[in-house]
Amino acid sequence: MSEQSQPRLSVVGTGYLGAVHAACMANFGFEVIGVDVDELKVKQLGSGQPPFYEPGLPEVLDQALESGRLHFTTDMAEAAAFGDVHFICVGTPQSANSNAADISYVNAAVEGLVPHLTGDALLVGKSTVPVGTAARLRDVSQKLAPEGVKVELAWNPEFLREGFAVADTQRPDRIVIGTDSDSADELLRQVYSNQISAGVPYLRTDLATSELVKVAANSFLATKISFINAMAEVCDRAGADVTALAHAIGYDDRIGSKFLRAGLGFGGGCLPKDIRAFMARAGELGVDDALSFLKEIDDINLRQRSRTANAAATMLGGTVNEKVIAALGAAFKPDSDDVRDSPALDVAANLHLQGANVRVYDPKAMVNAAAQFPTLDFVDSAVEACAGADIVLLLTEWNEFVTLDPHELASRTAGRRILDARNVLDPAQWREAGWQYQGIGRP
Ligand code: UDX
Repeated sequence: MSEQSQPRLSVVGTGYLGAVHAACMANFGFEVIGVDVDELKVKQLGSGQPPFYEPGLPEVLDQALESGRLHFTTDMAEAAAFGDVHFICVGTPQSANSNAADISYVNAAVEGLVPHLTGDALLVGKSTVPVGTAARLRDVSQKLAPEGVKVELAWNPEFLREGFAVADTQRPDRIVIGTDSDSADELLRQVYSNQISAGVPYLRTDLATSELVKVAANSFLATKISFINAMAEVCDRAGADVTALAHAIGYDDRIGSKFLRAGLGFGGGCLPKDIRAFMARAGELGVDDALSFLKEIDDINLRQRSRTANAAATMLGGTVNEKVIAALGAAFKPDSDDVRDSPALDVAANLHLQGANVRVYDPKAMVNAAAQFPTLDFVDSAVEACAGADIVLLLTEWNEFVTLDPHELASRTAGRRILDARNVLDPAQWREAGWQYQGIGRP
């Protein structure tokens, strides 16, 4: 271990999770090396330019680089020789042809790193993996370790939210460490001493439990969202208001008001693929029945996208063909440029396929959205998207859309129709300005 027995850290994989973790840990005083196979990403991060949009990251990255404690490399051997503790932060996307998680990047990280180790090391997995992966990787890494090198492994699931990644990394709700090694536990208490002394709960579990904590948490969050979206479907038919319903049930602190926003549903790189991978893993374990409800959660969620597209058609008199549609938002949520499994982009693409002229604008996600759906018409501002539009769809609740002035916008569109797929606008205000307002699960 390095000077004053402060462990040196490596972070393998510098996406939303790894880049933020590396920068924040360097600012907590650790020497950190970030390693990634993507040369461009490494170059950008090394010059203080995050390759993706995450509020607050440019500032913490600058601070960390200026301190001289943070470096980036594409050289796995360099990272292996540098670090005492190696965080595995690579992605585990949905497999191309099944619901299961593709853990090839995690395998490659371990197989690429461990043979290059030059001293005893602790591997700490942060990626979301199917239960059982950590125990297997512990055994694999012990086999791959060079002669005389002792390798231990712990799992440390990450709960950060995009858009709040910096705050969630600096002060997470809890730190979960799965390990069967007391020395790994001791070392990680040192690595996380800053957070622990600030009062962040530190929970030690076995490996399997730590892996499950992550997917259980995301399944619960997905369930909450789909529950309220199911209520929205009923409200639509019954002429009730799901936003008032959510407000009322949220006062019961056993239920809580968070994650009860009905609308277009969840997307992103985590919730959708995590619930599917969890079902796939349960199948392998022979307990498919225990998680069959998650299929319903997924179906309810995906249905919100078709319901939204159908609602737009209804507002336009039954068809969207040849209509001009302003699609406000492409990112899966505001304050992010991430379009992975984005409900907003899905709706825009669906309407485009039905013959509409869809004009998409998003404050940060234009490049990513255009890469995914190059045939959509991308414009430079919300105003441009709305000019001459027959209907405006609010698909991602960026603040600049939530604060649009209905009077001002009315002079620009061809039709005064707004479909608020995130239930964030004040219906009375829009109706007073002459708009036909429609929300999700609102009369
Ligand atoms: C999520 C988890 O919150 C985080 O703990 C985990 O580490 C990764 O997955 P993230 O994907 O960044 O984080 O987004 P989150 O803020 O959880 O939102 C997920 C999706 O749910 C978004 O598409 C959002 O629009 C949607 N959502 C959220 C709703 O539709 N309604 C809600 O009430 C809340």
